[in-house]
Amino acid sequence: RNKIESSKPVRFPETFIWGVATSSYQIEGAIDEGGRGKTIWDNFCHQGIHISDNSTGDVACDHYHRMKEDVAMMKQLNIEAYRFSIAWSRILPNGTGGVNQAGVDFYNDLIDTLVGHGIEPWVTLYHWDLPEALQVKYGGWLDPRIVDVFAEYAQVCFLAFGDRVKNWITINEAWTVSVNGFSTGIHAPGHLSSTEPYQVGHHLLLAHSKAASIYKSFFQLRQKGRIGIANCGDFRYPRTDRPEDREAAERAMLFQFGWFTDPLLLGDYPPIMRQLLGDRLPSFTEDNRAELVNSTDFIGLNYYSSFLASKPAFKTADNSYWADMYVDFSGDAKWTTNDMGWYVVPDGLREMLLWISKRYRNPLLFITENGTAEKDDNLELVKQDERRRVFFESHLRACYDAIVQGVSLGGYFAWSLMDNFEWQFGYTRRFGLCSVNFQTMERTPKMSGQWYGATALANGANIDIENGGNKNWQH
Ligand code: NOJ
Repeated sequence: RNKIESSKPVRFPETFIWGVATSSYQIEGAIDEGGRGKTIWDNFCHQGIHISDNSTGDVACDHYHRMKEDVAMMKQLNIEAYRFSIAWSRILPNGTGGVNQAGVDFYNDLIDTLVGHGIEPWVTLYHWDLPEALQVKYGGWLDPRIVDVFAEYAQVCFLAFGDRVKNWITINEAWTVSVNGFSTGIHAPGHLSSTEPYQVGHHLLLAHSKAASIYKSFFQLRQKGRIGIANCGDFRYPRTDRPEDREAAERAMLFQFGWFTDPLLLGDYPPIMRQLLGDRLPSFTEDNRAELVNSTDFIGLNYYSSFLASKPAFKTADNSYWADMYVDFSGDAKWTTNDMGWYVVPDGLREMLLWISKRYRNPLLFITENGTAEKDDNLELVKQDERRRVFFESHLRACYDAIVQGVSLGGYFAWSLMDNFEWQFGYTRRFGLCSVNFQTMERTPKMSGQWYGATALANGANIDIENGGNKNWQH
């Protein structure tokens, strides 16, 4: 690791944005109110087999009814920007066609409340809650017609909210939608396929670029905002210095982050994907390409973990996504894990940022998510909360290190404002800066939340760059 001249206290660039993030299905609840149409996640949860505590997002954090309180809580924590997602089916209950005014009103109210508190709204258009009607009618993301339908929805949003929303994120984690939704089937709509993930990924990219090009052609000049995407990326270190392990690590980077970033910044899928997947990977036309490469003002990175990568001992006949990638993953003995079972690797965030900057020639980046979770029965950890605080401090230090090394990192969004519905884990994993009592719905800032608020106010001046502020910290 490069040594950085110690110039404590640390200050991030003046313009650095300190934010928090959530998503509609994970917090809103009120699934039958305000004219909202059903989504594929409503359906998936109610099948009663996919969610570990057999819960649903029917009520979630009841944010739909507690929105004002939640914004006030953010204000109290000095949060400068709030990344939330719009539930497509509140705006267009059938996914396309008639606009539901009550849905528009809800988000208008949220946006006005944020702006009234001096908090910048950062809006994600798609965070996984596809209108069920589109799944039924087209097979959702599997059908190319979804591209135009998404663009129509995006346009409705630009028109309704773009006077106040200056930061748009089209799609959250296209990788997760493709792989968890269509390869391993652990997310809605729960398919297990070797070809569908690549088709779905293709349509997600084209939907992004179509929506973004509409924004750029018809809204950007007047509304003066910017548009990007949020991609997930875990860093992959080679397990050994052997060339085949180095190649495995790079291949893993390209099969995850590169899959959804190369097309936007370099104009096509990573060559290694084409080489290994052949016809199973769809192709872009020249027109697609021209649209793709001009579509993105910034790239969001959702970072949670890292792995060691090595070349597997043998190739299986299986052609699922993970077998296609052909990489074995392991952990470093020095790394700790969190209650998701994920390795906690703050240095991996710095390496990830440096890798992105190098491959794509220093684009504007934001950390659109970063965070950690405790199991809800891990009472001691939940209570004292130091592990979570150290997680944030060490990862912010990694961000700072990357900035010092020239990465264009404009801001950081902690995942998440409050404990919420963690997809297949239901309510058993708590990612919040604020805890939620799911019986009373009472919210309470955790110690890590207070710390993050103080950090936002101090623009990072309380972060110890030497050792992450924690003498026990190993890495
Ligand atoms: C990424 C997803 O965008 C978010 O919805 C999820 O809760 C976090 N990762 C944590 O798993």
